[in-house]
Amino acid sequence: MNGKKLHCGIIGAGRIGRVHAETLAFRLPESQLLAIADLNREAAQAVAARCNIPKVAASPTEIIADPEIDAVLICSPTATHVDLIVQAAQAGKHIFCEKPIAFSLQKIDDALAAVNTAGVLLQIGFNRRFDANFVRVRQAVASGEIGVPNLLHIVSRDPAPPPLSYIRSSGGIFLDMTIHDFDMARFLVGDEVEEIYTAGGVMVDPAIGEAGDLDTALVVLRFRNGVIGTIDNSRKAVYGYDQRVEVFGSKGKIATENVYPNQATISTCKSVSTDLPLNFFMERYTESFVLELQAFIQAVIEQRPTPVSGMDGRIPVVMALAARKSFDEHRPVRLEEISA
Ligand SMILES: NC(=O)c1ccc[n+]([C@@H]2O[C@H](COP(=O)([O-])OP(=O)(O)OC[C@H]3O[C@@H](n4cnc5c(N)ncnc54)[C@H](O)[C@@H]3O)[C@@H](O)[C@H]2O)c1
Repeated sequence: MNGKKLHCGIIGAGRIGRVHAETLAFRLPESQLLAIADLNREAAQAVAARCNIPKVAASPTEIIADPEIDAVLICSPTATHVDLIVQAAQAGKHIFCEKPIAFSLQKIDDALAAVNTAGVLLQIGFNRRFDANFVRVRQAVASGEIGVPNLLHIVSRDPAPPPLSYIRSSGGIFLDMTIHDFDMARFLVGDEVEEIYTAGGVMVDPAIGEAGDLDTALVVLRFRNGVIGTIDNSRKAVYGYDQRVEVFGSKGKIATENVYPNQATISTCKSVSTDLPLNFFMERYTESFVLELQAFIQAVIEQRPTPVSGMDGRIPVVMALAARKSFDEHRPVRLEEISA
């Protein structure tokens, strides 16, 4: 460790790389960003200028080899994650990696083995676990406040689909988007899913179907402890980012609503209305991005396990592969059927 501040480097200056760079630069004084790299050098330069990052590295390798850097944040596309995790682990760097770790379990296992051998810390970017609403739901379930949980409902709809170029390299809706909800389901219920059934379709944009993907899905989860859950996904909700959960139990229920930019209601002779919810993940989950990186930095400084482990990164990928298999084969799929 270099003094008190954790010295970080970021790989990837796209949508999420920029969010993390801004968080480290403006919200977390316990860290210092030393370098950023992106295949698109201009993107890296723009983020570096905005966030006062002193160095734009020529490649991820340059960041990983930098002896001044303690930890790397991997924010490049999913297909690049495993090679970068392995390289960073071998160089003794602690790693924060965006979700999902990879599309295949074999590759994930290679990455986790490298992390284990090197003895470095790894945290996966399931930021929603740090959202105040969902933390409160987990508390209510864990403390027994709503009794024994019976049913879980997750609604998770994006305001608009990402560009087709992103869809094509995303691994599909279950590995790219539902993956957050699979993690949320495990986190809220505090148990593992054993069986998944998926109904899905292409209802937003036929081009998404032509790219081999779905844009609408309903996933039914059966947990080992008997809880039944649903995840309801759409790539396009015209009223904005729709992110709600409910857990129903023997002594009551707990539910969360969308988050709004203000609390105002507008009343006229025709209707009572509010403004639309915060539009997308950058706005809706801002605080959770801060808290997840703060937790990572604290874990590294104190050399204790991170709150979202490599295994927490692996299990939602098993769930995503099961969800797609269920859709393809029109049947419930047990997670034990999914292997590397
Ligand atoms: N936690 C979240 O809420 C969240 C949100 C968005 C994306 N993500 C994840 O983050 C990752 C990136 O997604 P994004 O939306 O930021 O994508 P993006 O396409 O906006 O940005 C990716 C950036 O990586 C760069 N890049 C590509 N290959 C590279 C390489 N080998 N080395 C360095 N840079 C490279 C690209 O030029 C681009 O600037 C994905 O794994 C995605 O699933 C997570």
